[in-house]
Amino acid sequence: MRIDIVTIFPEMVEPVIRCSMLARGQQAGVLEINTIDLRQFTHDKHHTTDDAPFGGGAGMVMKPEPFFEAVEYLREQAGWVPARIVVTTPQGKLFHQAMAVEFAQVPHLILLCGHYEGIDERVCQHLATDEVSIGDYVLTGGELPALVIADAVARLVPGVLGNPESLQQDSFVDGLLAPPQYTRPAEYRGYRVPEVLLSGHHANIARWRRLQRLLRTRERRPDLWERVQLTEEDLKLLREAEESSS
Ligand SMILES: C[S@@+](CC[C@H](N)C(=O)[O-])C[C@H]1O[C@@H](n2cnc3c(N)ncnc32)[C@H](O)[C@@H]1O
Repeated sequence: MRIDIVTIFPEMVEPVIRCSMLARGQQAGVLEINTIDLRQFTHDKHHTTDDAPFGGGAGMVMKPEPFFEAVEYLREQAGWVPARIVVTTPQGKLFHQAMAVEFAQVPHLILLCGHYEGIDERVCQHLATDEVSIGDYVLTGGELPALVIADAVARLVPGVLGNPESLQQDSFVDGLLAPPQYTRPAEYRGYRVPEVLLSGHHANIARWRRLQRLLRTRERRPDLWERVQLTEEDLKLLREAEESSS
């Protein structure tokens, strides 16, 4: 998969995409992540990427031409393979795991980073396929959102994570949060790891983990809990947990 991040601050993005799992995916040859300097696609001597807003008002708006030219260049370079072209904006759809899964299906993802008052609306309407927000707050630029999206998508690309099974245990995969995890030592400052995890009894461990996922999701994320399809086994686990705590 190829991910291109279009920004006026490549130096902000570069260090992040060159370490940890993102670097590993690139070394393994399953992932290519590029940072593209938007200023390369300007034609004046000052490499201007923003201008005053029509209609007046505070701040500057990012010009449409460099974004159109950058995306056309990148798509051509990638051989016009199917692409998602994402404008980062606090006004977009909220990013979530299912969206990451969707983006990971296409061979080319282009992430456009805004600044100032944002990007000229014609980019959103006539160039982008998606407008995405990473949360209900306003950041100074689109680089952190682009990195969040790139990271969430990249780890889904086969070959990026060492053990692909770990993806199946993640929060949100089946609408539930992941269970609590523990590692050695079994006791630390008097705090014991739950006995069942030390028992070596795989079926009991699986049942305990499932129950923890259900309880956590119900307690922490009522919005997710509303949509969970409980199985007979889940209902039984919850009933038993309630009986043993009463
Ligand atoms: C200061 S923001 C512009 C905010 C815009 N004036 C508004 O209120 O909707 C500048 C840039 O940061 C990025 N950005 C800020 N917050 C974001 C968020 N929550 N999600 C995604 N991108 C965001 C976008 O690329 C945006 O163009």
